[in-house]
Amino acid sequence: MSSQKTTTVAIIGGGSIGVAFAVVFTRAGWNVRLYDPDAGRRERIADEVTTRLTQLSGFGLLAEAVEVLIDRLQVVETIADAVADADLVEECAPEQLAIKRELFRALDEAAPPQAILASASSAMTASSFAENLAGRHRCLVAHPGNPPYLIPLIELVPASFTSDEVVERARALFEHSGLRPILVRKEVEGFVFNRLQGALLREAYCLVRDGVARVDEIDTVVRDGLGLRWAVVGPFETVDLNTRGGIESHAKKMGPAYARMGAERGQHDPWTDELVASVASARRELLPIEHWEDRVAWRDRRLMALTRERSDAGLEESDH
Ligand SMILES: NC(=O)c1ccc[n+]([C@@H]2O[C@H](COP(=O)([O-])OP(=O)(O)OC[C@H]3O[C@@H](n4cnc5c(N)ncnc54)[C@H](O)[C@@H]3O)[C@@H](O)[C@H]2O)c1
Repeated sequence: MSSQKTTTVAIIGGGSIGVAFAVVFTRAGWNVRLYDPDAGRRERIADEVTTRLTQLSGFGLLAEAVEVLIDRLQVVETIADAVADADLVEECAPEQLAIKRELFRALDEAAPPQAILASASSAMTASSFAENLAGRHRCLVAHPGNPPYLIPLIELVPASFTSDEVVERARALFEHSGLRPILVRKEVEGFVFNRLQGALLREAYCLVRDGVARVDEIDTVVRDGLGLRWAVVGPFETVDLNTRGGIESHAKKMGPAYARMGAERGQHDPWTDELVASVASARRELLPIEHWEDRVAWRDRRLMALTRERSDAGLEESDH
């Protein structure tokens, strides 16, 4: 990336995610060209971006004035105008295969050869909508959390035909925009984020159906329990730190119960000794066992800071 030239991004589709990306990219100092086929939407986009930027500014989360940022946004009427000199195109149209296929065909024709063509798709792979394009080497999925100006994680999901150079350039660009890219190593429907979310949601629906817990009670269990913890450590680090002896000790104690719970739902993916050993070995590389106590203390300090923050925001008292 040249240090002189300002990055230009084209956003294709100005609904929830397109507008949120406009916030991310104007905040990063980039020129943003946003296209939406719906004239009514086009009229509302600048106001919606301004509102969100103003809210961020109110929380002290912007380094520049809202007027400076909004000046970087141009809402345009054609795809050609959006992509004209784009370094990156982020497609944010509805999650329908026919729409993505047609859009990627049009984007590959209209965008400059160096432009990366990324899709915000929540579950569809680049193989399913870009396989037959001349420029397929520059196509991939870049799937954000919603809204990306508050949830920094973005999944980069290349197809087998996406070039490594494009993946690396996409990673550098998204990092520069303030997001945290992770590379999804194989194309699977739903990628990692929505597969994990899906596992939890499937069980949540079953628990409601079976009368085990009400909808609000399940949200409370996640908000005040699992989710609070996951704001600090992920599921593997959680069990590694919760059980003296780490992953292997946890899998020994709890593995059979989790296997029965999975079988009850028709899922038969036992944690074999080999699989547990490979997860344990990855964890020990990240956290040598002699630092285990320190990390537990670190986790607790992070949770203390979060607890104070939630208390300041009144979240401890509010049920909704
Ligand atoms: N909403 C989320 O939580 C979320 C999170 C991550 C990824 N995504 C993905 O982002 C994409 C957009 O989702 P969204 O929630 O913003 O949808 P949305 O319905 O809010 O917005 C879609 C926008 O695309 C426009 N559009 C329709 N046809 C188009 C076309 N042919 N070309 C360009 N634009 C077109 C619509 O006018 C609308 O403004 C989807 O692929 C979705 O799966 C959504």
